[in-house]
Amino acid sequence: MQQLREAADFIRRQLGDFQPEFGIILGTGLGALVKELEIQHEFSYDDLPHFSTSTVESHSGKLLGGIFAGRRVLVMQGRFHYYEGYTMQQVVFPVRVMKLLGIQKLFVSNAAGGLNPDFAMSDLMLIEDHLNLLPTNPLIGPNLDELGSRFPDMLEPYDHTLLAQAQRAAHDLGFTNYVRRGVYASLPGPMLETPAEYRYLRTIGADAVGMSTVPEVIAARHMNLPVLAISVITDLCSPGKLKKVDIADILRAAAAAEPRLTALIRAVLERQ
Ligand code: HPA
Repeated sequence: MQQLREAADFIRRQLGDFQPEFGIILGTGLGALVKELEIQHEFSYDDLPHFSTSTVESHSGKLLGGIFAGRRVLVMQGRFHYYEGYTMQQVVFPVRVMKLLGIQKLFVSNAAGGLNPDFAMSDLMLIEDHLNLLPTNPLIGPNLDELGSRFPDMLEPYDHTLLAQAQRAAHDLGFTNYVRRGVYASLPGPMLETPAEYRYLRTIGADAVGMSTVPEVIAARHMNLPVLAISVITDLCSPGKLKKVDIADILRAAAAAEPRLTALIRAVLERQ
């Protein structure tokens, strides 16, 4: 808690009278929103007290403060993954700091493999629910009472109002054919899944699979922060559609979906 407070105090001093309203986490290959952000503050994670440094090449590791869709937002360009070797506390540290800085809602994106046979490459999936298949979670250990309760409720991990607004925004933007809804399963990675694992994930109710998001959402819900999370389907993992993927393919599919993701987040922010 002390470290969280020190990081938040440091950033607050730099932000001056910029009071953030919303937090946005940009996933793998999903940095383009930043081009439409009127940047007022920029911090490299390396320069922030108690932040970890991002180790993945496709993530740039910056916290940005600026105006997007006319709202004051903090944007995490790059996130921390469990597979990088961080503890869950390190993975969710920036989310907790953003909450201490005053954000009222959290928007999360990620790149994910599509398990639902109806999904196509570069579709967007609004996450309705999740399966936490990571070996641990950020709430294990002494509870940070100042942030939330020992046994937080998880009946509505993804905010129903934000989901409805995103669905309506998708309709208004003419994106209905590209926007799906479903359950996201989070696995530790960094290896992708075996064919048997994909079949298992589909059987237990997952529509998409990835290696992030769930820890941040758990930390956000612990703090009672409403969440909208969107997966970009970067490869297809249902039987018959499986093929070898590499990170370049994933980044290409993410890039193709980025304009729609950015437009959708913008449209939802405009509705706040
Ligand atoms: N698994 C399979 N495909 C993916 C993943 C994953 O974790 N992330 C992005 N595409």
